[in-house]
Amino acid sequence: MVTTEARVAELRRLIDDANHRYHVLDAPTVDDGEYDGWVRELRGLEEEHPDLVTPESPTQRVGGTPSTQFAQVEHPQPMLSLANARSDDEYRAWVERVRKLLDGEPFQLVTEPKIDGLAISLIYERGVFVRGATRGNGVIGEDVTANLRTVRAIPLGLGDDGEPPAVVEVRGEVYLPLQGFARVNEEQVAAGAKPFMNPRNSAAGSLRQKDPSVTARRPLSLWAYAIGHSKGLELRSHWEALEWMRAHRFPVSPDVRLHDDPDEALAACHEWEQRRGELPFDVDGAVVKVSSFDQQRRLGSVGRDPRWAVAFKFPPTTAITTLLHIGVNVGRTGALNPYAVLEPVMVGGVTVSLATLHNEDDIRRKDIREGDRVILQRAGDVIPQVVGPAPEQTGKRGPVWSMPERCPVCDTPVVRAEGEVRHYCPNRACPSRGLEGLKHFVSRGAMDIDGVGEKLVAKLVQEGLVAQPQDIYKLTLEQLLDLEGFQQRSAENVIAAIETSKAQPFGRVLFALGITHVGSVTAQALADGFGAMDALRSATPEEIAEVEGVGPVIAEQVAGWFLDPEHAHIVDELAAAGLRMEGPRRAQAPVGPLAGKTFVVTGSLDGFTRESIAEHLAGLGAKVTNTISANTDYLLAGTGGGSKRAKAEELGVPVISEADLERLTAG
Ligand code: IVH
Repeated sequence: MVTTEARVAELRRLIDDANHRYHVLDAPTVDDGEYDGWVRELRGLEEEHPDLVTPESPTQRVGGTPSTQFAQVEHPQPMLSLANARSDDEYRAWVERVRKLLDGEPFQLVTEPKIDGLAISLIYERGVFVRGATRGNGVIGEDVTANLRTVRAIPLGLGDDGEPPAVVEVRGEVYLPLQGFARVNEEQVAAGAKPFMNPRNSAAGSLRQKDPSVTARRPLSLWAYAIGHSKGLELRSHWEALEWMRAHRFPVSPDVRLHDDPDEALAACHEWEQRRGELPFDVDGAVVKVSSFDQQRRLGSVGRDPRWAVAFKFPPTTAITTLLHIGVNVGRTGALNPYAVLEPVMVGGVTVSLATLHNEDDIRRKDIREGDRVILQRAGDVIPQVVGPAPEQTGKRGPVWSMPERCPVCDTPVVRAEGEVRHYCPNRACPSRGLEGLKHFVSRGAMDIDGVGEKLVAKLVQEGLVAQPQDIYKLTLEQLLDLEGFQQRSAENVIAAIETSKAQPFGRVLFALGITHVGSVTAQALADGFGAMDALRSATPEEIAEVEGVGPVIAEQVAGWFLDPEHAHIVDELAAAGLRMEGPRRAQAPVGPLAGKTFVVTGSLDGFTRESIAEHLAGLGAKVTNTISANTDYLLAGTGGGSKRAKAEELGVPVISEADLERLTAG
């Protein structure tokens, strides 16, 4: 007979183990049903035998009543902060100082991710978690024990192998994984609250909840990165501390490294920066620490910053910028996808000027409007997202945004089905749509696939063999032979023609994609201007507009087209199929009556909007820029526009009217 005590102990071990595997190792071994069964059984036993309940029992994660205020607690040792190194040179200067202060003695360095969350302190007395606190000002923090108990990655006990230390303080960073951040923000918005600016703020908000059951619903996690105060624990280095924590089931990053060579540590920091976008959580840098505790003591601190550690900072992944305008792209299913055109801003080390927006409801719920200052988030290679309007608005906000009433591609009134969030263009012949797109793809001017005409494409679609262009390259001889009217010979010819089409030049591939407003001439101009699909895909609308003959409206359409994940997928698959994604870059001579001329436009014109005049001029071979310089050929001025006019006069740039422009191009 198993005693109740033994069964309770076994259940706790099973549950703790499952929690550790799930929340720390990311390698679950039991299914949810089994896990829930254990928890239910343990709860039952504890209810029958209240004397067996211990504070480290997994059933005690959400206990306690909501606190009305967080008690202030003093940290047993101050929680320090970190000095930053913003470049390789600053890092090397830090290394040199360490070397000098240690009198040339050799030292080892540990590299770790710098997680963007909230620093916390966890105190274990005789192996039991007794108090958790926020960093606060480093000396005094807030007691958030009840809330921290709900974080599954935090062990409530140190396990029962041998005698636990009398006291040990584990320090680490509580954070929200990016997915959890997105979810929390969705819930915020649905509840009519403002979205959090970044995962760090949402982690902080989640941890400082008055009611622990709210915290329990937030998918918070932890990375442990240091041991603070301790009694009865003999450790000689930071590296040993990390190993001790890992052995006691604290989540320690699997990527921490020990280095003998400071250059190697720097290389590890760079590696982190490279991998940043692949991580499921936000890192804002890498931390480099001298490992030996003895050396740490000798190095000491300056103010709040220890001399034995440095944070190698990465550029931020969130930024605030102005939403200039909301554009709409029509997908291959006819779905209308809004996107944001932004004032270019650096995020995560790259300049971003476009971001996805989900749908009209989402835009309205978040109350995102043209002209707003918005919070932009970008994690690595992920397409940037507009999180929501920034708390402070400085400029003039536009009206509540609405989806256009007509399809931007074919002008058909758009529809929105009951219960659907998306708007669609219902026109089956809309050039944006699947079948039409495929017909265009195989057509003479595009991939020019011999023997694959409109009829065959329609049939392939009908039979479910082809839905997107890349499917054409996956067709097999057998599939064709199964179709009515195909003989061995004719089927072989079609397969051969499909194969041959892979050699079509890059410009044709671009044209074949059927990007709105990109005809064969524009496609060729883009191919010549960028030379490779990857270069074009990552270009900003401004960069695209620099190609001769491409105005700002088309440039925005092109950039917006690539932003659609469905389109990105098609391009990737076509590249994988072996289509040409590169071509020789040609500096093309602009053509048209205004070939090579540079214009700046100011004031309001009679016959044109801002965009349409730029498009018109681009079509005539001219380039349009925003600022007047000695290289400007003409300032086209409407009514108003004082400062540019003055500047033009100062530089001797001719100022012309709309009528002058007409005369200029007439002859
Ligand atoms: S060590 C030296 N290690 O960064 C003592 N801090 O800028 C400082 N942080 O308050 C803590 N990841 O919130 C350390 N691997 C890491 C860290 C880390 C993130 C945070 C922590 C600290 C802040 C200092």
